[in-house]
Amino acid sequence: MSLVEIRDVSRRFHKGGETITPLDSVSVNIESGEFVSLMGASGTGKSTLLNLLAGIDQPDEGSIVVGGREITKLSRGELARWRSEHVGYIFQDHNLVPVLTAWENVELPLLLLKMNRGERRRRVDVALQAVDLGDRVDHFPRQLSGGQEQRVGIARAIVAHPTLVVADEPTGDLDSETSTQILELLCRLNRELGVTLMMVTHDLEAAAIAGRQMRLDRGKLLLLDETDRRDDGQVRAGESGSVEAGGPGGADS
Ligand SMILES: Nc1ncnc2c1ncn2[C@@H]1O[C@H](COP(=O)(O)OP(=O)(O)OP(=O)(O)O)[C@@H](O)[C@H]1O
Ligand SMILES: [Mg+2]
Repeated sequence: MSLVEIRDVSRRFHKGGETITPLDSVSVNIESGEFVSLMGASGTGKSTLLNLLAGIDQPDEGSIVVGGREITKLSRGELARWRSEHVGYIFQDHNLVPVLTAWENVELPLLLLKMNRGERRRRVDVALQAVDLGDRVDHFPRQLSGGQEQRVGIARAIVAHPTLVVADEPTGDLDSETSTQILELLCRLNRELGVTLMMVTHDLEAAAIAGRQMRLDRGKLLLLDETDRRDDGQVRAGESGSVEAGGPGGADS
């Protein structure tokens, strides 16, 4: 069984009498420990898919099973609890609380869990060390560089040891050198801590560091492999089908 099983998921929005369908019967599996990137033009539904995976939104049709639990069947309250235990979210603009220090920002997700103070402290220290920010723990967000702020955002996303980390354009606001450092950090967390990661990006080079690359186009999820990628990174028309239930090893894995 795969860690994440997305089956025939559709999501529609109604806008001024018009219906748009960013996700049209999308199916895909993600394995434990995988690093997947998701590309696609603006407005194709990348954030919509991340939000479904993170249990922030619910699909109109289809099911999402994470770690054997069908999250699409949970009530609002159950989903909120599930999210706090199982999902880390990395935002483009890191969404740090300005009046809390780096340390306190990372501690926040743990306050939603049953955990004693000693364990909480240990987890926060370890997470900040994992992102190489051990010496900046007492700084407020405004005293940190953009790259350091994103490191705090990443520490906050991993501190609860979530089943799954989703990142929505985590390097979108950073210069290229800082982007590279953040991508290297994500790779390291994936490789060394086994963090399962789904990252949305508009950057071809960023997408390429993931073990598997996907693209959303007109409601369908396309799986890119070497033969599907042209020099400009576009999927060749008609050569890549929508992803059907396959993990990296295909439908049988
Ligand atoms: N809550 C909502 N209500 C109405 N429409 C929505 C909602 N959320 C998303 N949409 C619409 O669904 C489509 C997909 O949006 P989404 O934010 O997922 O795109 P995206 O691929 O993440 O784009 P970007 O690259 O610009 O971030 C867009 O047309 C958007 O306007
Ligand atoms: Mg988006």
